[in-house]
Amino acid sequence: MKFGVLTGGGDCPGLNAAIRAIVLRAARSGHESVGFLDGWKGVRDDLVQPLSLRDVTGILGRGGTILGSSRTNPFVKEADAQSVLATLRKEGIDALVAVGGDDTLSAARELYRRGGPVVGVPKTMDNDVSGTDWTFGFHSATAVAVDALERLRDTAGSHHRAIVLEVMGRHAGWVALATGLAGEADVTLVPEEPYDESALLRHVKAAVGARGHALIVASEGIDLGTSRGEAGTKDEFGHELLGQRGVGIELARRIEAATGVETRSAQIGHIQRGGPPDLFDRILATRLGAAAVDLALAGRFGELAVLRGPSIVGIPLDEALGTTRTVSADWLDLLHTFDA
Ligand code: F6P
Repeated sequence: MKFGVLTGGGDCPGLNAAIRAIVLRAARSGHESVGFLDGWKGVRDDLVQPLSLRDVTGILGRGGTILGSSRTNPFVKEADAQSVLATLRKEGIDALVAVGGDDTLSAARELYRRGGPVVGVPKTMDNDVSGTDWTFGFHSATAVAVDALERLRDTAGSHHRAIVLEVMGRHAGWVALATGLAGEADVTLVPEEPYDESALLRHVKAAVGARGHALIVASEGIDLGTSRGEAGTKDEFGHELLGQRGVGIELARRIEAATGVETRSAQIGHIQRGGPPDLFDRILATRLGAAAVDLALAGRFGELAVLRGPSIVGIPLDEALGTTRTVSADWLDLLHTFDA
């Protein structure tokens, strides 16, 4: 068999580990692999590179993706969809492994519906793909945010300030939740809960009263009613670039105006997405990549390799793509145990 691999959507730590696992697992059974460059764009435009064992040696611990990524949606225009099918025929691809989040995987599902031999591997720092317990990229990216919060604590303490850390995560609050929990935030705002300004100000005042400073973690996806500036640009899947709304800056302005406490904000942005995968993401990406090859070898196209408890299993792409996986009530209850 000839395997094709693509990585689509926002990059995250662990992509190279997944690519390596796919290539080595396929090679072990005597199969060859090639990589498509820049996500679905590479399949649409036939941008392909061989993936030899040598190409994937020593990449497991490297951030980013050696194949490049993009947010190209090849199923908006029929002509692009036909180009995708033509590329797969021309390159003689027997199995395409699409490594991505909701958007990349929804394109994989569309390809499958059109008869394409595709299997999926879920990844995203947002941890918002349904059907899997965790996505790789999340642990590593969130650890960077926790580190940032701890650095902000030092300077907030020195200057007796409140500081807002705005983190990524799109419409799911997993990154903010874990950053706030692991980094001892005084209050954490997630998109799953309506914005409550009086509660926020109460927690900030309590923290400043107790320690002289306050740390607030805010997900980029929270709705403040009126966001600062214009609505962000949209990507090819119709998603607004939420970081452009600047909710952290707006929160800092409101906190300072209402409490008189000098307040700053920091947006961690893409710093979170770079850097090496941690142990958890290395192992998860490796297991999922290998499992995706096994699904393809078993003819289980249209499926996604996911983590369920201790096991990696295959589920239909449809099952994962119904809903965004958001933070559940039990997590929110735990989070608020630690509000100032
Ligand atoms: O989906 C991953 C993510 O990092 C989101 O958390 C964020 O909203 C978005 O990508 C940013 O996208 P881009 O890299 O296109 O600016």
